[in-house]
Amino acid sequence: MMKTGITAIGCYVPERVVTNDELAQMMDTSDEWIVSHTGIRERRIVAEGEAASDLAVHAARTALERRGIGAEDIDMIIVATSSPDYPFPATACLVQHRLGAKVAGAFDLSAGCTGFVYAVETARAFVEAGSARRVLLIGSEVLTSIANWEDRNSCVLFGDGAGAVVIESLDGVAGHQIMSSWLRSDGAGETALIRPVSGSRSPFDPRKHSAADLQLQMDGKRVYLFAVDAIVKTIRTLCEREGILIEDLAWIVPHQANLRIIEAAAKRLKLPTERFYTNLERYANTSAASIPLAIDEMIDNDLLRPGQWVLSVGFGAGLTYGGNLIRW
Ligand code: UT7
Repeated sequence: MMKTGITAIGCYVPERVVTNDELAQMMDTSDEWIVSHTGIRERRIVAEGEAASDLAVHAARTALERRGIGAEDIDMIIVATSSPDYPFPATACLVQHRLGAKVAGAFDLSAGCTGFVYAVETARAFVEAGSARRVLLIGSEVLTSIANWEDRNSCVLFGDGAGAVVIESLDGVAGHQIMSSWLRSDGAGETALIRPVSGSRSPFDPRKHSAADLQLQMDGKRVYLFAVDAIVKTIRTLCEREGILIEDLAWIVPHQANLRIIEAAAKRLKLPTERFYTNLERYANTSAASIPLAIDEMIDNDLLRPGQWVLSVGFGAGLTYGGNLIRW
């Protein structure tokens, strides 16, 4: 059986830091409310004109450099995003061109904040089916470009960033094996997290629609309850499938949405919250970029050891959820 895994990682966040206090100067909110309800203290926001493909290219270049290969060594590019440069063409095609990945196919994957988790399993399947030798997978998001800045319930939650990984066979290459993934969807939650207008369901009509209809809309309470359940279910299922105890997990790397969601899930699983890595206080919710941003930081902080069980778990628009179990 082929062993497939992550052989390099690279990340990028925009330079501009925006604190909660700065947001409080723009709208009726406060650092105290945001920290106590979410754990977020600041986020990165793109410069004017900076798009998802720009962040993705930076992150991808770092990953390729760390792996010691060129763009021409990649034969598939997947960009997981809910904030692409355009509805079409795919952001992955723009990245492919900018990197000079001349022999790569490219497509975007839409699974909301679970995008990275879905794309890791997609990449593994491509490699193990022999359809690609090396997949470059990038979670890249500029959620601040689609947030409704008049809606304090949602806009304070998001930030921008990108994280890239190379996924390939571990035959002769050092890396971190993808042992198992679990992917699920509950489309009954269609309206819980949605950009309702401009698709074929409701084409944009300037007589009927406002700017807010084109932006992200969220039922925060509903997503919160779903998210806690999703984390618990995913961790239990993946551990059971692999025959390991939940206590055997060295690290859980959750989608970085809200500290309270993570604390509630930890409590239900009777795990210490410290087992869950978090950096959302500095980046807020970067959707499909949040898990690779967290893993990259864990590597920088020397937190990961060979042989450890590391579980990534995501949840988001769809509603989608799922996880990847990785042997570090
Ligand atoms: O990737 C998945 C993305 N989505 C999420 O992660 C969202 C999941 N949901 C959540 O994280 C939480 O539901 C929120 C953080 C969005 C809200 O927290 P909550 O504890 O469920 O707050 P709430 O909805 O009960 O609102 C409490 C109050 C309301 O005031 P009233 O109606 O009680 O007077 C809100 O208007 O807080 C008010 N509020 C704010 N106040 C100051 C809502 N947003 C803000 C704000 N600043 N930014």
